[in-house]
Amino acid sequence: IREHEEITKVKNVNRIELGRNIIETWYFSPIPREFFPEGSVDVLYVSEFTLDMYRHKSELERHYRRCKIRHPPGDEIYRDDENKLSMFEVDGAKSKIYSQNLSYLAKFFLDHKTLHWDVDPFLFYVLCEYDEKGYHPVGYYSKEKYSEQGYNLACILTLPPYQRKGYGKFLISFSYELSKKEEKVGSPEKPLSDLGQLSYRSYWCHAVLEALLEMNNEAISVIDITKHTSIKTEDVVLALKFLGLTKCVNGRHVICVDENFLREKLKKFPLKGVRVDPERLHWAPLK
Ligand code: ACO
Repeated sequence: IREHEEITKVKNVNRIELGRNIIETWYFSPIPREFFPEGSVDVLYVSEFTLDMYRHKSELERHYRRCKIRHPPGDEIYRDDENKLSMFEVDGAKSKIYSQNLSYLAKFFLDHKTLHWDVDPFLFYVLCEYDEKGYHPVGYYSKEKYSEQGYNLACILTLPPYQRKGYGKFLISFSYELSKKEEKVGSPEKPLSDLGQLSYRSYWCHAVLEALLEMNNEAISVIDITKHTSIKTEDVVLALKFLGLTKCVNGRHVICVDENFLREKLKKFPLKGVRVDPERLHWAPLK
């Protein structure tokens, strides 16, 4: 049954209530059958802090009365008091239920992607806006603890009410900041969704332009840009081509840059919203 449902992708939940938002779902999610016994449910009630799911609002209210947790599990590894943003690192092996709930939640907005239901090998980076009531999740990404393919991000989601505000690029940028700390080069797991592709291309273009301006010396190679940004060489080349910054001279591809041109291009690829401040990151790679 489960496989069939996954293939046909009939939406099993119409909306989820999460904190102050009621969110229309996009796709099927293989949540346990007990939550949609009649084939589908209209609203699923989700706790903002534990991500536990309930069929009735009264159950969620009782949960909030009984459970005093007001933030995701794990370590707060980034905090921006000016913008009231905070990032938690959740270990899938230590906070299994939370991580599984997060994956179920994400699947409501991911079509093609095979989510990894065994959460043990993953870390989850949960971005929250916080206020006096607690830490409200706005998006997250997952990352394998050890990736043979060099992926620094497995799956990314900004919850729909918070999309197009720059949080996606904040999460992407955060994933590269961790790669810089690891002294590694990274890339997102493939395939990317259309929205993932757009967001990454926009981030790569921004980061490559900024790197070229910062490095502002005569001979810059693709490898230099990779070292500066932790963006994998293939992705740097993609961005350079998209920006029209490569030329074929005597059969070799060279980067052609002019500072004014770069500055003009950068205006087309801004980082909207809040930026990651590496000074605010308190994190060391897993040993
Ligand atoms: N239409 C056109 N362009 C868009 C759209 C859209 N609906 N959404 C994002 N973009 C592009 C734009 O270039 C945008 O930059 P701009 O607003 O400066 O023009 C850029 O992507 C990123 O915008 P952000 O506000 O930083 O990103 P957002 O918070 O909206 O999150 C994300 C992007 C995470 C991809 C979000 O759309 C999402 O969660 N989608 C559903 C899940 C998904 O598809 N995840 C990616 C799967 S691939 C993977 O996980 C490896």
